[in-house]
Amino acid sequence: MSSQFKKLLEPVTIGTMKLKNRVVMCPMCSGHANAGGDISERIIDYYGERAKGGVGLVIVEGATIDRHFGNSRRLPRIFIDSDLYIAGLHRLAERIHLAGAKAALQLQHHGRWSYPQEPGVQAVAPSAGPGQIPEGARALNKEEIWGIQDGYARAAARAKQAGFDALSINGGGAALVHQFLSPLYNQRTDGYGGSLDNRMRFVIELIQRVQQQVGAGYPIIFDHPVAELKEGGITLEEGKIIARRLERLGIAAFRIHPHNFTDPIHFASHIPPAAIPHGPQVQLAQEFKEVLDRARVIVGRRINEPVLANRILEEGKADLIALGRPLIADPAFVNKVAEGRAEDIRRCLACNHCWWCYSNLLPVTCTVNPASGKERLFKIVPAPVPKKVLIIGGGPGGMEAARVARLRGHDVTLYEKEERLGGTLNLASVPPHKEEIVHLLQYYENQLKKTGVKVALGKKVTGDFIAGEKPDLIIGATGARPLVPGIPGVERSHVFTYEDVLTGNVPVGERVAVVGGGTVGCELAEYLAGQDKKVAIIEQLAAVGTELDNLTRALQMDRLNRYRVRILTNTRVGGITAGEVLLKGKDGTSNRLPVDTVVIACGLVADNTLFKDEMPARVCLIGDCLAPRTMLEAIQEGRWAASLI
Ligand SMILES: Cc1cc2nc3c(=O)[nH]c(=O)nc-3n(C[C@H](O)[C@H](O)[C@H](O)COP(=O)(O)OP(=O)(O)OC[C@H]3O[C@@H](n4cnc5c(N)ncnc54)[C@H](O)[C@@H]3O)c2cc1C
Ligand SMILES: Cc1cc2nc3c(=O)[nH]c(=O)nc-3n(C[C@H](O)[C@H](O)[C@H](O)COP(=O)(O)O)c2cc1C
Ligand code: SF4
Repeated sequence: MSSQFKKLLEPVTIGTMKLKNRVVMCPMCSGHANAGGDISERIIDYYGERAKGGVGLVIVEGATIDRHFGNSRRLPRIFIDSDLYIAGLHRLAERIHLAGAKAALQLQHHGRWSYPQEPGVQAVAPSAGPGQIPEGARALNKEEIWGIQDGYARAAARAKQAGFDALSINGGGAALVHQFLSPLYNQRTDGYGGSLDNRMRFVIELIQRVQQQVGAGYPIIFDHPVAELKEGGITLEEGKIIARRLERLGIAAFRIHPHNFTDPIHFASHIPPAAIPHGPQVQLAQEFKEVLDRARVIVGRRINEPVLANRILEEGKADLIALGRPLIADPAFVNKVAEGRAEDIRRCLACNHCWWCYSNLLPVTCTVNPASGKERLFKIVPAPVPKKVLIIGGGPGGMEAARVARLRGHDVTLYEKEERLGGTLNLASVPPHKEEIVHLLQYYENQLKKTGVKVALGKKVTGDFIAGEKPDLIIGATGARPLVPGIPGVERSHVFTYEDVLTGNVPVGERVAVVGGGTVGCELAEYLAGQDKKVAIIEQLAAVGTELDNLTRALQMDRLNRYRVRILTNTRVGGITAGEVLLKGKDGTSNRLPVDTVVIACGLVADNTLFKDEMPARVCLIGDCLAPRTMLEAIQEGRWAASLI
């Protein structure tokens, strides 16, 4: 066992439940259940892999206790509102146990955030006050409140019967329990609203009913909304009172789970994008720990590496660490720590692609881990016949293909024309808040070395060279180059591409027009504005940064706004002169913008000319050289190509 991470790896108890270490997988909707809400082989593999990866406790994602009023969006969800689901849940709990971890199940009801699909069913909430987000929910009557509490109790009994060791009750995340606790959501005037005592009545009765079903000793983890950091919301003092009372009721652990849906900037800290510093809730965790007697405090959020996780515990700021996205990115996080090879961890980049999937009702996939949710499909198995594989291009696609092909036993050489690996990652990591992409590059450099991939840097591959090598298979991963549109004046000496600017090879003047408001254009604008340039983004569509998830975009737009970057949408560049860009509005207007430098960020064009000639072996093109997209596709296709050899 690694002594550097002793605290993280030390056993701990949550109530009567004994855990082998202090790492908890926090609940995250995966979209991997069956469409009917029952447990699929895919979700069993997904959680099984994370349990096998060494965590002490897996908290399985929010299971809906009442499908009519749960979050029944088209994203497949786990249902626990009927005995029919017990068998599937049993298989899931069993797999987690077999892999050596304890299993808990999160129970939840989304209240006003439900999206009922059946006609005539309306979302429900503590109250239906005007101005609440989202609108359209109706207030629950008392019989319905008691019915929901009973629903929780029956769901808890089913979870226990299925073999789960503990429950987690989502009292944060703007779910129904949170809505009752919060004066922002709860404007009832009966015994369930108003004073803190009244706002707590729903959760207290709920927990009591659950305990009647499962027994007082059955561990319950409460996901605590903590404080709402908004006028009129739950205060920190109230949050502490809630925690103390629930501890007296028998809650065994609190997961720090603050959430403010009503403000996009605060909401971003729910699933912190890379612009939010690591461990944003640690201070709050410490404050809660100080007011609790025996209940454990679990803290998570953007703790994507073990040194920080261990330090939080050593400094006594929390009792356990919750990892969410870091375990999507690398299920074996804990084992790698325990085996003293933390450098092998494939770190979560906090890019929030997974959250984007969830928000767009898609099963969750991961930028850096193509096997997430496809554990069986992407299992790395030895190749039947070792082959000579030539990989051209050392970007993320080529590096993943090389790593996996080598692990499967092939003879692999990766050629890169530059003097360093990484391809476009070297540009992507330059703008502010993108620095952690460097960890992905370091991960690959390390893995290529450890697996024995032969890497030839500074070698531009040609057709003749390939013919001389006589490979069995060629994987083309040559990437893409900037697309330069045919704007009159684009050849002028003060016009550069995003690549020129991010490599730092060109002089950029004081007034800059960035042509193109996609992700690259927005990041570039922030990068230049941070150097005190006066920047304008010119975008022909109606909005900028639209590929980003809602949280990353909210923060990105806020920063551009604070830098006073001008954003001209529905506008095309009609020409570039010595000191101006000519603007053409969609509404037919024409304008001129004085500039010193123009930067083109209008997308990319695939760079695959090398493979147009006849090749001596089968060619598999992957990543941007097939079609310019993102790291996710490059890495995923690299994995595919290497898996099929
Ligand atoms: C500024 C910027 C920011 C980005 N940010 C993100 C982001 O945040 N998240 C995300 O998911 N995606 C991002 N992307 C996209 C992402 O970087 C690419 O989709 C990804 O790098 C593509 O990987 P690849 O392996 O296909 O190609 P590349 O990364 O482009 O690598 C291709 C490699 O092939 C080499 N090569 C080319 N020809 C030859 C030859 N003949 N011989 C030898 N070597 C050769 C090149 O030198 C290069 O190193 C960003 C892109 C840019 C431009
Ligand atoms: C795709 C996705 C789905 C999530 N679903 C849930 C959920 O069902 N219940 C919950 O309490 N939190 C949910 N969360 C929040 C996580 O539990 C966690 O608080 C968050 O991801 C931040 O932690 P991390 O930085 O370790 O990922 C979800 C997060 C993600 C990324
Ligand atoms: S998609 Fe991005 S944020 Fe989500 S787990 Fe993967 S690397 Fe982390």
